[in-house]
Amino acid sequence: MIEYKNPKLLINKSNFQAGEICWRSPSNIAIIKYWGKHELQLPRNPSFSFTLNNAHTFTCLAYNLKETKGISFELIFEGKENTSFHPKIFKFFEQVVEIYPFIEQLHFRIETENTFPHSAGIASSASAMSALSLCLCTLERKLFNTLLNQKEFLQKASYLSRIGSGSACRSVYPTAALWGETNSISESSNLFAIPFKDEIHKVFHTYHDDILIVSKIEKSVPSSAGHDLMEGNIYAMNRYQQAKDRLNALLKALKEGDLVSFGTICEAEALTLHALMMTSNPSYLLLKPSTLSIIEEIRNFRTETSIPVYFTLDAGPNVHLLYPDEFKEIISEFITQKLLFYCIDQKYIQDIIGEGPSLASDS
Ligand code: PMV
Repeated sequence: MIEYKNPKLLINKSNFQAGEICWRSPSNIAIIKYWGKHELQLPRNPSFSFTLNNAHTFTCLAYNLKETKGISFELIFEGKENTSFHPKIFKFFEQVVEIYPFIEQLHFRIETENTFPHSAGIASSASAMSALSLCLCTLERKLFNTLLNQKEFLQKASYLSRIGSGSACRSVYPTAALWGETNSISESSNLFAIPFKDEIHKVFHTYHDDILIVSKIEKSVPSSAGHDLMEGNIYAMNRYQQAKDRLNALLKALKEGDLVSFGTICEAEALTLHALMMTSNPSYLLLKPSTLSIIEEIRNFRTETSIPVYFTLDAGPNVHLLYPDEFKEIISEFITQKLLFYCIDQKYIQDIIGEGPSLASDS
């Protein structure tokens, strides 16, 4: 069992230098969904995701020593001082302070921005919490000359990200990641995600994910409340088993490059996620009429053309369109002709599977 708590990670004030670390970290889109958790973001079932590229968060963590001990930070979100995210960041620092006791010796200025609307069913918490966790791991490396091994560095960043927001733990790896224990993968863990690029067919390395924004309004029920409602959902146990079974089938399809099996599982997972919301008590519904219209259009287009384009959904009404690179022109035409009508401002986010986070600066 991995143990990251370390009371020794304290700064020696005599040779300290203030600085700033900036990371760019992407969102990810789950194909097998994490829905239901216990304790500190431990998943009830394993999940699998693709790492995105364009939908990302850029975060700079400036740090300086302070006199008094305690958690202290200011947060600038998209250029403006922001207090609405304070409770989430404060809780995160509190939860990782035994791993990083130096947090209480420093004052942080966190400047962060997203390339996409937050709280609209694109995992902004995944990119935001992974970016912040990567900044903290770089800070550890800088202060203590530790985490020099890249695998260890990313594993710890994934572990910290998980504490910030479960799905964030999958954002630290290029292309694809798997999080949660599964019998078929011996290194899998509930505590952190593992990279999965090398185990999947090349066709997925350049996959597209176009995100059709049908609503930018903040979700009526946040994901954290949705996870909690799974504890009383009568389908919960069957769902957890279903996710495990589907993961095994998905891993086979990913390895073989079987696009039809991949897409069939992908759509089933998206609809199951929303079915679980509808069957929670109290029940809730995040899909919009436009979501269903888009789904219908995609299924009709697939029947007519046999092009392997499939959808998935996150915890919101926006639709992710997944397809291989070779069909990008025809899909772009399809979106313009049939789907933009349903989108806010007739716009969508074009994304592709990405190479994972990158360190932007360290001074
Ligand atoms: O990481 P959270 O607590 O925001 O939960 C995210 C859950 C889903 O996005 C709906 C599914 C997933 O696995 O990413």
